[in-house]
Amino acid sequence: MNLKQTNTLEYAKELDVNDALSHYRNKFHIPRDSQGNDWIYLCGNSLGLQPKTTKSYINQELEDWANFGVEGHLEAKNPWMPYHEFLTESMAKVVGAKPIEVVVMNTLTTNLHLAMVSFYEPTSTKNKIVIESDAFPSDRYAVESQLRFHGFDPKDCLLEWKPREGEELLHLGDLEKIVDDNADEIALLLIGGVNYYTGQFFDFKKIAKMGHRIGAKVGIDLAHGVGNIQPRLHDSNIDFAVWCTYKYLNAGPGSLGGMFVHEKYANKKDIKRFTGWWGHNKDTRFNMRHDFDALQGAEGWQLSNPPILSMAAIKASLDIFNEVGMDALRKKSIDLTGYLEALINDLDEEVIRIITPKNPKERGCQLSIQVKNTDKGLHQRLTEANVITDWREPDVIRVAPIPLYNSFKDVYEFVAILINIINE
Ligand SMILES: Cc1ncc(COP(=O)(O)O)c(C=O)c1O
Repeated sequence: MNLKQTNTLEYAKELDVNDALSHYRNKFHIPRDSQGNDWIYLCGNSLGLQPKTTKSYINQELEDWANFGVEGHLEAKNPWMPYHEFLTESMAKVVGAKPIEVVVMNTLTTNLHLAMVSFYEPTSTKNKIVIESDAFPSDRYAVESQLRFHGFDPKDCLLEWKPREGEELLHLGDLEKIVDDNADEIALLLIGGVNYYTGQFFDFKKIAKMGHRIGAKVGIDLAHGVGNIQPRLHDSNIDFAVWCTYKYLNAGPGSLGGMFVHEKYANKKDIKRFTGWWGHNKDTRFNMRHDFDALQGAEGWQLSNPPILSMAAIKASLDIFNEVGMDALRKKSIDLTGYLEALINDLDEEVIRIITPKNPKERGCQLSIQVKNTDKGLHQRLTEANVITDWREPDVIRVAPIPLYNSFKDVYEFVAILINIINE
């Protein structure tokens, strides 16, 4: 994008006028300051904003609980017994999967453990797990604890895919080398599909091929990918993925997560797993039989009857995603983030550097922006100016323009406020 003539607020507003998705902003509660001005909220990669419909979706369930008590399991407008099924098709579309491959349940780290119980099958010699060196801490803790649980020392069995000296981004070629060098010892690759820190989006298909070539399983943490990029999970042929719904899926703080298990495992009832009654055959679940009879597909990994109020919030959000479609969202996202990138580059400031890949195919909506010679005071000043971003020590702000509710004007004003603060 060449901004020489167009680096103006008027142009940003013109982009909003021509944006076919701009009216979706009105479907969300945008936080405001005491004067009634909208915050510039660029933090949907941490906690997405609330759809205005969420309250009524939750109220419906509260009312049905008030009116029906336990009978709501079958009599509620959206009966609670099969409630998770109302989410499956929309969620499958968002992640590019078949409905049989997807279930909404638990939270991300719990689902990661459940997935590793099934897909990390170490032997005395083939027992290593590969993660990114800056994997999200919870993933690292989960992986290390799984290694220890199986009697292995993370110091020996956790392999890190690291950036090269002086770089932040990862090279697939370096992962390939790790895989080749440890072909007989690696049991699992667990990769953050969009890295939480750099915003780098990896080619899942290539990673799946690499892992499967050496007989390892491949899992993806999709926390920063779901509702952001189009992960095409089924076609990628990865074994499993897990995600949360409180970031790009706008389902509220601590809302439930999701899990993908590739169709190739849908009928493998004897696969090793931790089980609970909600993963049992629906036809006989209430016969309270002793023998566990796993449901087909990802549903077979469910443990408990799920929290309906959280699922109602997910349904409110997924209904919006269903209406817009990921193709349209991703298209706007590429434009909006490209605009942010162009404005930052146009500043031509030596102290500012974008860490995230330049190629839109290798990133989602987030740009991780390093501001050299600064500290958390910068983030504080942005917040005081009603600009909500995310700070990562020592000097990186993560900025995520969300195509559902951010405007080109938001992006323009963010950059204007940022440079003002830097120049003060
Ligand atoms: C990449 C990634 N993995 C794991 C988690 C942990 O998620 P949860 O607290 O839902 O288990 C997060 C949370 O932000 C995350 O961003």
